[in-house]
Amino acid sequence: MLVVFRYLLEAYANMKAVILAAGKATRLRPVTLTMPKALVPVANKTLIGYAFDVLTRAGLNEIGIVVNDLDSPIPQTLGDGSGLGIKLEYILQEEQLGLAHAVSLCRPFVGNDPFCVFLGDNIFQDKMEPLFRDFLSSGAESAIALGEVTDPTRFGIAELRADGSIERVVEKPKEPKSNLAIAGVYLFKPSIFDAISRIKPSWRNELEITDAIQTLVNDGGRVNSYTLKGWWIDAGKPDAIILANQLVLEELPYTPALDDTSRVIGKSEVSHRVILGQNSQIIDSVVRGPVIIGDNTVVQNSYIGPYTSLGDNVRVEGSEIEASIVMKNCVIRNIPGRIDSSLLADGAQVTVAQRMPTTHRFILAENSYVQL
Ligand code: G1P
Repeated sequence: MLVVFRYLLEAYANMKAVILAAGKATRLRPVTLTMPKALVPVANKTLIGYAFDVLTRAGLNEIGIVVNDLDSPIPQTLGDGSGLGIKLEYILQEEQLGLAHAVSLCRPFVGNDPFCVFLGDNIFQDKMEPLFRDFLSSGAESAIALGEVTDPTRFGIAELRADGSIERVVEKPKEPKSNLAIAGVYLFKPSIFDAISRIKPSWRNELEITDAIQTLVNDGGRVNSYTLKGWWIDAGKPDAIILANQLVLEELPYTPALDDTSRVIGKSEVSHRVILGQNSQIIDSVVRGPVIIGDNTVVQNSYIGPYTSLGDNVRVEGSEIEASIVMKNCVIRNIPGRIDSSLLADGAQVTVAQRMPTTHRFILAENSYVQL
């Protein structure tokens, strides 16, 4: 008994994870023209940082990240992970031939151990401990997280047996038989590699991990399911990122209103649940939480409303903004009306003309969006 227990523990300790982050993220342009989706900040933490949280909490500290270029911002920013207390390696997927193709490239990294696959653009309220905890002792070939959705034609959809195991999974079904979507966290044994080698590209010309899971079921393997609790966001589009920012900020624990007069200056009012970074100042402004503000940022004669994240080195002057993400080095100055539900990537500037003519002037990247 003790030997079995120790074996389970050791097997668990060997379990690695791979995060798939090689997609082109076209739906998030222009932000993703220069910044991979995995590094987009949500409540001033990268999207991929939330995946690290779930994985490390489950004891998985060795993580491979599938990227489309080994010399690109993800490896450059995250390095070997030592700064984050994890061990990171990078796996190259040059061509985006589907999730199953990406997983097949991970074989040398995971070896003969069970492993987790995590889609890098998903963010969850649930930390999914039971999914990880029960997998090895369950004897199942795989276990997948499922979340209820209102638009099942957009996802991989699962049909369950009475015992909760998977009977069928279909990728983007035209006539969905359930509203339980595959939510982007999968646990596999090495048997998945053989299943992947036997599937054919789908109608969208991708090797679908959903089809490989169905192959496991057809082979007689058991695939367990875990139904997520709380919210789950597939953060592929600007609106979804902004919503994720709100949901994460909503969970900020209570902190009392700041009354540090070296940082909250003049006629300012800063409510509870406001996180203010180092060397940042609020001058003659109102900040109503939940709000997170990075380092070296100055807010002057302005209103920062709930669910707003301001990055490092941001200047907000004479303006009002709420429910928005403003990344590092942005400037917002003297904007009439309130900025709402907006996403400003690094170094973006929104100002008004200092002299006549007071025209609107835009220098916008491809797929930029302006609403006046
Ligand atoms: C992918 C998977 C799908 C899953 C979804 C979750 O879809 O193929 O099964 O439900 O992620 O976000 P895609 O993002 O490629 O459309």
